[in-house]
Amino acid sequence: MSYSSQNNFFAQAYRTGTDAWSAIPFTRRAHELGLYLPHGALVLDIGAGRGRLLFDLAELGFRAIGLENNPELIARGNNEILAKNLDKDLRFLHGDALNIPLADQSFDGASDIGLLHHVLPQDYPTYVSEVARVLKPGAFFFLVVLSKNTPNYLSWKPQKSEAADYEKEGVHYHFFSDDEIKKLFEKDFEIRHIDHDTPFGPKDADFAVVLLKKK
Ligand SMILES: C[S@@+](CC[C@H](N)C(=O)[O-])C[C@H]1O[C@@H](n2cnc3c(N)ncnc32)[C@H](O)[C@@H]1O
Repeated sequence: MSYSSQNNFFAQAYRTGTDAWSAIPFTRRAHELGLYLPHGALVLDIGAGRGRLLFDLAELGFRAIGLENNPELIARGNNEILAKNLDKDLRFLHGDALNIPLADQSFDGASDIGLLHHVLPQDYPTYVSEVARVLKPGAFFFLVVLSKNTPNYLSWKPQKSEAADYEKEGVHYHFFSDDEIKKLFEKDFEIRHIDHDTPFGPKDADFAVVLLKKK
């Protein structure tokens, strides 16, 4: 799998309206950030997609930047922000989660709904150090990833299999165990909770819903 095949898949799905993940209802869970962050806090949404979480974050009283590596979504998203008169609070930014073009310790919070499980395992240390770098100490990070508890997804059976990595149509999928999530983040973050959600029912994808606090 190369990142270019994956990026092409995402871009094509957004163009054709087949980006089914944009309907998976996790943005409501991200509202939990509202319990921990003060009004006006600055949040980075990593892999922001169509920006559905950004608009919710503005409603919650936050300022937010949506980081996306798909340039078509940046122009479209920033036009939508202008049309909704939210340009004082929101912005889409073109950039790579593995090389975030933003200053150290500049955010009070961050979120990633559905990007990390598409990052190649050898790049996890870079991903974690980039997210940790842009967050202030004490900042909160809300993360949703595919879980190894998944009984069945796209005809794969990660729960019953040794394998955690799969590929389809040029896209990489990793199914995380809770222990793996803890080990990955424990140096830079306190794990506040990991719980599980099965938005398509118990026989389909299981997602780990994780709240972390930057040390
Ligand atoms: C599964 S989608 C999730 C989108 C959004 N978070 C949501 O829940 O609707 C993953 C998104 O990450 C973006 N993406 C993939 N690799 C990226 C990278 N290295 N840096 C920034 N964004 C990336 C894709 O273009 C896609 O919009």
